[in-house]
Amino acid sequence: MSELVSLIRQGDIAIITINNPPVNALSPGVPEGIAASVESVNDDASIKAAVLIGGGRTFIAGADIKTFESMRSPENRRGAGLLPLLLAIENCSKPVVAAIHGTAFGGGLEVAMSCHYRIAVPSAQLGQPEVKLGIIPGAAGTQRLPRLAGVQKAVEMCAAGNPVNAADALRSGIVDRLTEGDLVEGATAFARELIEKGEAPRRTRDLKTKLGDESANAAIFAIARETAKKSARGQLAPLAAIDAVEAATKLSFEEGCKRETELFQQCLQSDQSKGLIHVFFGERAVSKIPGVSKDTRVSDIKRAAVVGAGTMGGGIAMNYANAGIPVILKEASQEFLDRGLATIKKNYDTSVKRGRFTQEYADQRLALITPSLTFDGFEDCDIAVEAVFEGMELKKQVFAELDKVCKPGAVLASNTSTLDIDEIASVTSRPQQVIGHHFFSPANVMRLLEIVRGKATSAEVIATSMALAKKLKKIGVLVGNCRGFVGNRMFAPYQREAQFLVEEGARIEQVDAALYDWGMAMGPLAVADLAGLDVSWRIRKEFKHLEDPSLRYPMVADRLCEMGRYGQKTGAGWYRYEDRGKGPIPDPEVQHLIEQFAAEAGIKRREIKADEIVERIIYALVNEGARIIEEGFALRAVDIDIIYVYGYGFPAYRGGPMFYADTVGLKKVYDRICDFEREHGVLWSPAPLLKQLAEEGRTFAEYDRGRGGGN
Ligand code: 3HC
Ligand code: NAI
Repeated sequence: MSELVSLIRQGDIAIITINNPPVNALSPGVPEGIAASVESVNDDASIKAAVLIGGGRTFIAGADIKTFESMRSPENRRGAGLLPLLLAIENCSKPVVAAIHGTAFGGGLEVAMSCHYRIAVPSAQLGQPEVKLGIIPGAAGTQRLPRLAGVQKAVEMCAAGNPVNAADALRSGIVDRLTEGDLVEGATAFARELIEKGEAPRRTRDLKTKLGDESANAAIFAIARETAKKSARGQLAPLAAIDAVEAATKLSFEEGCKRETELFQQCLQSDQSKGLIHVFFGERAVSKIPGVSKDTRVSDIKRAAVVGAGTMGGGIAMNYANAGIPVILKEASQEFLDRGLATIKKNYDTSVKRGRFTQEYADQRLALITPSLTFDGFEDCDIAVEAVFEGMELKKQVFAELDKVCKPGAVLASNTSTLDIDEIASVTSRPQQVIGHHFFSPANVMRLLEIVRGKATSAEVIATSMALAKKLKKIGVLVGNCRGFVGNRMFAPYQREAQFLVEEGARIEQVDAALYDWGMAMGPLAVADLAGLDVSWRIRKEFKHLEDPSLRYPMVADRLCEMGRYGQKTGAGWYRYEDRGKGPIPDPEVQHLIEQFAAEAGIKRREIKADEIVERIIYALVNEGARIIEEGFALRAVDIDIIYVYGYGFPAYRGGPMFYADTVGLKKVYDRICDFEREHGVLWSPAPLLKQLAEEGRTFAEYDRGRGGGN
């Protein structure tokens, strides 16, 4: 029929195949190709049934997300534009069977549900993940899914966006049959049975029995709304998805589709969908690295070693074990080794208790971790990751040792959060093999991995690290070797402004609430208490000689540390903590200390509104981010966005700090930063790149594109 959609015949059954690699998205040409094939099926009296299948590795992974931008324009304000195609399939006069492997996501599941029957392989995944892109199903998914799976299941799938596996889909009525064997054979056999039984097309839109009754549904929707408000705090799409499914229970199919279209468009026009789509493509864009191509050699990491079984080392070892890679975990003393292993075991026990996996699975993973007090076995490892205390001399000692014991091609990685990778590499005979693997705490949970390239790090070691990140289910982002790398370098002014604000009159809990309500996973001062105030205190002391003494300095944090208030771990920091697990309690003693300090420093205290708090703290991130891009320590603005979303609890629906600045308008952000410079001095001097883009009326996204990267 076309290059994108082909039709072949197997006797009286038509096999319609979509060929739009890699994921058979419904890009322009695909819906038209399917519609033309369906028309042929209708017109050809010798065809008695049809099978619709995806070529390659999957069924249809959804609408083509790249086309959403154009759907935002006023002349295109319809639904996803697929409704006529789906009606054409559903109206086909002969039974159409969707044959599903890989993923039937979004528009893909919507296409499948407009077919009259569905068969899937056991490994197939089916879902309406649109809310993860800040939108809702836009091709009657919210109308057909409850008719097949019932209201409860449809609400869950559309509001949370998580896929179901084939077995679950069978149980809930989304698919009719599973096949263990060849999918085309299974699907044609199914079609043949339908022909032989004389089954007429079964149109999903006409099914009503699963739409439930009003009072039971009301309870389902009320609970779903409560859940969505908690689990997707601040997000519009999950609530819109629930509204759309509710419409399916109250309106005719046609009216329900109209309501869905309205809600789809509202979501599509929102900054939230722009932000989430930016993150979707950003996650993939960060893996594109100039100088590293598909041809760059990637070493296969089959065995690993981790040095240091503390907070980070233990979590890092778990990442390897979870990916099925045997890992040696080396400590300096039996006591620390036992403690490290006990923590790992406890983490696995918790996962078993929470039903994340079985005891047997946990035991298998634990068995992949070999505790050790020596370097024995390191000679067989393809990578060694150092996670000992933060201190240059100790790191150098460990790397000199690793250089001696590891085989020539092995990657030598450091988890340092502040130290110079080049200096660490200098003690080895192979600086090209040395790289930073900066995991985030808890390392077994947080998805970000900053991959820090030293000046000698080879393209092969970078490519191997990026591939390894994927294997460890992390998002690897390549950064340059500056103090704090990208994430923590930006976090310093973020923290600084939070602390200046409390000195200037904002209450601690007010600062945290402003940022939390804005969408951050936690407020900045609560985060500082969680990470441990002593950690940044030690870093501040170590680098104090590099600071300009004439600049304003956030004194209170140092004072808290001098008082032994290190945060949650000592039961007190910016807040007090009474019980583990219980939230932070505002502490009048700290408030008093702040006021006293402000009086001594001559800081005039005033009332500060939430908007100003957010601007000061978020724009501090943006300004530092712009410097980092200009200095080349981040490849693109989008890399910073991904670092902040996956490492620092930045709300994905705001797209990351640089994208957020784009949505505010860089001129506006720049002007505000100039105001802050006038009020607060040189710490706020605007980044030259920000000034330039603001004056040119451009965005960070355009800047990325201009340099051949980004979304
Ligand atoms: N549209 C456009 N491009 C898509 C796409 C889509 N729906 N899904 C994936 N791609 C692209 C990716 O950007 C990537 O491109 P790149 O190679 O240039 O970076 C390429 O396809 C391969 O994707 P992945 O690297 O993600 O491949 P994986 O095998 O790891 O994952 C997947 C496959 C699970 C299908 C994953 O890509 C995915 O989750 N895709 C998005 C699915 C989705 O959200 N669908 C709903 C879309 S919205 C919709 O359908 C609205 C509807 O209601 C009308
Ligand atoms: P930690 O103090 O919890 O653990 C360090 C461990 O290293 C200790 O158990 C210690 O006994 C062990 N050790 C010391 N010398 C050793 C040697 N020669 N051989 C084997 N083991 C040795 O420290 P943490 O927090 O795990 O930090 C480790 C590294 O990770 C540091 O470089 C730190 O900057 C970095 N990091 C820490 C993060 C955090 O949130 N804690 C986040 C990201 C990076």
